Amino acid sequence: QIYEDKEEASKHVAKTISLLMRQKQQEGEYTILGLATGSTPIKVYDELIRMHREEGLSFKNVITFNLDEYYPMRKGDDQSYWKFMHDHLFNHIDIDPKNIHIPDGEIPIDQVEEYCQEYEEKIEALGGIDIQLLGIGRTGHIGFNEPGSWDSSRTRLVKLDHLTRQDATKSFITKDNVPYRAITMGIASILKAKAIYLMAFGQAKAEVIAQTLEGPITASCPATYLQNHSNTRFLIDRPAASEL
Ligand code: GLP
Repeated sequence: QIYEDKEEASKHVAKTISLLMRQKQQEGEYTILGLATGSTPIKVYDELIRMHREEGLSFKNVITFNLDEYYPMRKGDDQSYWKFMHDHLFNHIDIDPKNIHIPDGEIPIDQVEEYCQEYEEKIEALGGIDIQLLGIGRTGHIGFNEPGSWDSSRTRLVKLDHLTRQDATKSFITKDNVPYRAITMGIASILKAKAIYLMAFGQAKAEVIAQTLEGPITASCPATYLQNHSNTRFLIDRPAASEL
């Protein structure tokens, strides 16, 4: 779906999320949301906060799982995804803090594997993610599943691509400060979501969007695995659609 601008696309996604939340609430069930960071989903979060304030949208029956976190990374650090999510969403809504899950960048290295497995088990025990939000990196990554990630990959510690570290420099001031690794949900974990909304805005995403939607399914562009998911929507603006 091609939108005039990111506001229009973000409002559509926020509306869809809010409708599911209200329906689940009426049924006495939890909504399980898979959340993403980066500049792309910020307006969705802004709109959800607005609905919370102005339309009484409650997050009391929402459980969230974030896709990824840099490793190592302290929660309170300015560049942490933990801080990003609290600044852009969680501090402004009525979600129960125990229902927030973000991969822990402080976990000791010898416990990471077990931690990642438990992260997946928690999602599965809740019956899986209802709506997964995704952005896309210029390497074709979703979450931090860089080129070379297989569709069987699960939540794990990964090495970041050179281009991803370069793109992250804007948040870390110099490239030397950007962590070399991250914990990310895997491709297999992401593909289990019942519905996936990938958003991409701006000319810089045009090439990777064309490859993702029209290219062959390959580990060298992990986002192409979304072609195998039966309920994925791409919401993009005109510049991001310019090479389709
Ligand atoms: C980071 C995140 C991704 C995100 C990507 C794009 O690498 N780990 O989940 O999709 O950035 O970022 P932006 O939305 O700022 O373009």
